[in-house]
Amino acid sequence: MFSQLPTPQTDSILSLSTLYRADNRQDKVDLGIGVYRNNQGQTPIMQAVKTAQMQLAEEQQTKVYVGLAGCEEFNQCMVDLVLGESPVLDRVSAIQTPGGSGALRMLGDLMNVAQPGTTIWLSNPSYVNHKPVMEAAGLNVKYYSYFSPTTKQVDVDKMLRDLATAGSKDVVLVHGCCHNPTGADIDFNAWQAITALAQKNGFTPFVDIAYQGFGDGLIEDALGVRYMAENVEEMLISASCSKNFGLYRERTGAAMVMAKNNTEANNAKGKLLQLARSTYTMPPDHGAAIVRTILTNDQLTKIWKQELIEMQQRMQRIRTSLCTELRTTLKSNHFDFIQAHKGMFTLIGFSAEQMIRLREEYAIYGVEDGRINIAGLAEQQIPYVANAIANITE
Ligand SMILES: Cc1ncc(COP(=O)(O)O)c(C=O)c1O
Repeated sequence: MFSQLPTPQTDSILSLSTLYRADNRQDKVDLGIGVYRNNQGQTPIMQAVKTAQMQLAEEQQTKVYVGLAGCEEFNQCMVDLVLGESPVLDRVSAIQTPGGSGALRMLGDLMNVAQPGTTIWLSNPSYVNHKPVMEAAGLNVKYYSYFSPTTKQVDVDKMLRDLATAGSKDVVLVHGCCHNPTGADIDFNAWQAITALAQKNGFTPFVDIAYQGFGDGLIEDALGVRYMAENVEEMLISASCSKNFGLYRERTGAAMVMAKNNTEANNAKGKLLQLARSTYTMPPDHGAAIVRTILTNDQLTKIWKQELIEMQQRMQRIRTSLCTELRTTLKSNHFDFIQAHKGMFTLIGFSAEQMIRLREEYAIYGVEDGRINIAGLAEQQIPYVANAIANITE
């Protein structure tokens, strides 16, 4: 049975972590895998999460199955978190999923069932798992222009030109905020322009929001998705609690469908439940129970929001310091785009060879596509990293 299987290719980001662990150099810096880190290099459990966890341990009476849709209170909390007090809420349905990845796959499967042969447009580049997940769900994948290697920002004109060719049976995936891997986000005008194209040409927007609160703030990061939801008939949303609640391993996320009306939203949910049933049946409970506990308790919500602000501010501080350091070292503003980028990631514009040099000569581990995780930098490492980047740039 297995003799025809090829030798597996290693995942570039995960194998980077293995190399990092095996590196004995004292000054090594891990800017690879996408997890938030504090100044001590740790990914601590958030205080609000710890408190919610203890509360749950006290209160929980059973570990019996939660049901196909997971916890409905969690689902409602997630819809509220992403869409706010939107007038469209009565035509939105949601299910709890194993992480944002589970939401991506369930929505991919849903599109394939609802409309076989769907083409989904991804930004070029996009989150490394978007293409495999959508292809595994049976969709065709196309790319729209996104990142300008010259300005290191979004090339909005080129993006809109490409998206103008997306047809009424196509789906366009947009990152809600903090674009992975580039760090370059579309501004509100671009959200409006994509929405106008969706209205005109009839494609369905799909928003993947995995870093809400990491960019400009919880509400600010959702302004684009909220505007879009209020101005199109149908939309898909995947949301992840891995980063903004620090619940990575608890696999917590939600898949949402906004349909033309309440009946169609319920039908879509019914199909999602059937798809979940034949995949993993029921989502894991713990992470969602924590999020629900936090978001239904004013005091815990306040603590969580404050912690999230501190994380976001730390990332912004690092961006500013790294930019300042690079400006001084290089006597140029070449890397100023780092400060304009949002969230954890920045594509610094290095080739694979330059990234390998960073790793081999300086023990600085970033992804070979040029992505660095800003949150992986401790403040005291900034001069060292800036100096290494400057040396390799020259
Ligand atoms: C854009 C994007 N979507 C989805 C995910 C998946 O998140 P999760 O860990 O919740 O499955 C990630 C994780 O890195 C991501 O960057």
